Amino acid sequence: MDLKDIDALIIKLNQELNLIKNAKELEGFRLKYLARKGELNDCFEKLKELSVEQKRVFGPKLNTCKKELEQRFKEKQSLFDKVTEEFFFDYTLPGKKKEIGSLHPTTLTYRHIISVFNSFGFEIFESNDIESEYYNFDSLNIEKNHPARDMWDTFWLDKKYILPIGSKKDEFKSINLLLKTHTSPAEMRFMEKNNPPIRMVNMGKVFRYEATDARHEFQLHQLEGLMIGDDISLCNFKSIITGMTRKIIGQKDLKVRLRPSYFPFVSPGLEVDVECFKCHGKGSKCSLCSNSGWIEMMGAGMTHPNLYKFAKWDRYNYQGFAFGLGVERFAMLKYQIPDIRVFNSGDLRFTKQF
Ligand code: DAH
Repeated sequence: MDLKDIDALIIKLNQELNLIKNAKELEGFRLKYLARKGELNDCFEKLKELSVEQKRVFGPKLNTCKKELEQRFKEKQSLFDKVTEEFFFDYTLPGKKKEIGSLHPTTLTYRHIISVFNSFGFEIFESNDIESEYYNFDSLNIEKNHPARDMWDTFWLDKKYILPIGSKKDEFKSINLLLKTHTSPAEMRFMEKNNPPIRMVNMGKVFRYEATDARHEFQLHQLEGLMIGDDISLCNFKSIITGMTRKIIGQKDLKVRLRPSYFPFVSPGLEVDVECFKCHGKGSKCSLCSNSGWIEMMGAGMTHPNLYKFAKWDRYNYQGFAFGLGVERFAMLKYQIPDIRVFNSGDLRFTKQF
């Protein structure tokens, strides 16, 4: 065996490999040269007959040659595999349907409500899920030990927020934190940053430390609204809320009624009912309004002047209204969903319907 013979063999094999056009030819090449009884292995057999010095020269040369050829062989093979795959691909088969996501009914509902308020000139204000005791309660006229705190069963956080106060470096105030129980704290957050005239809506998650059933969840969404100016009256409230309810539900002549209620941050406090948009008070056995003809929509009222003090406004004789409604509750009415717990279930059979 001569080094030249090996060089010639390598050139020959490479040339042959270049000319191969299909998988069948490639297999023939493998059997002829690379297989156990192939020509390349014959060369390795011949190595045994050589002297130790010759083995040192020929051995490595043959090894690299074999590796290179095998590498090129694999490259060619994968090329043909791809071609074969494409060849056998049936372009006439119907395509696989891609799953398309859809928006959650809560998102759909709040976007719809917000767009209606936008068209009434209300700006959108965003706020956090974690709130301080001050914004959730005190600044809304709900002092510590006020019985109204019982209206909101609260998830308190273990961690306290530590704030430096005053000019002395070592004076600190610790603040109690909670998961906000309603969106009303957004009113105070907004009032601290803005002066009247105000028209804002806020949408957010709220949390209640309570047992769940078909009508109660521990995590839901609320929509808060606030409008304050020099002479905003209850008449303005009724006309805006009637207009927006009709627009959201999509029925022109729906009636809205106000009932007295109590919330510490408004005076007077109100409960807003809308005429049942299924039976309009006429139907018997109406599942939506339980035959009462009315559906409870939201809490509301005229903003309590104490809030203007908490917001440190220049004067306190402004007038305005505020309201808060449950987004899931609204979606339940709109899509006739009987159980609030499905919203957070993550069950695709539910969410896919919207
Ligand atoms: N925050 C109240 C609740 O969670 C709802 C509410 C009532 C909001 C009256 C208001 C309001 O803005 O004026 O039950």
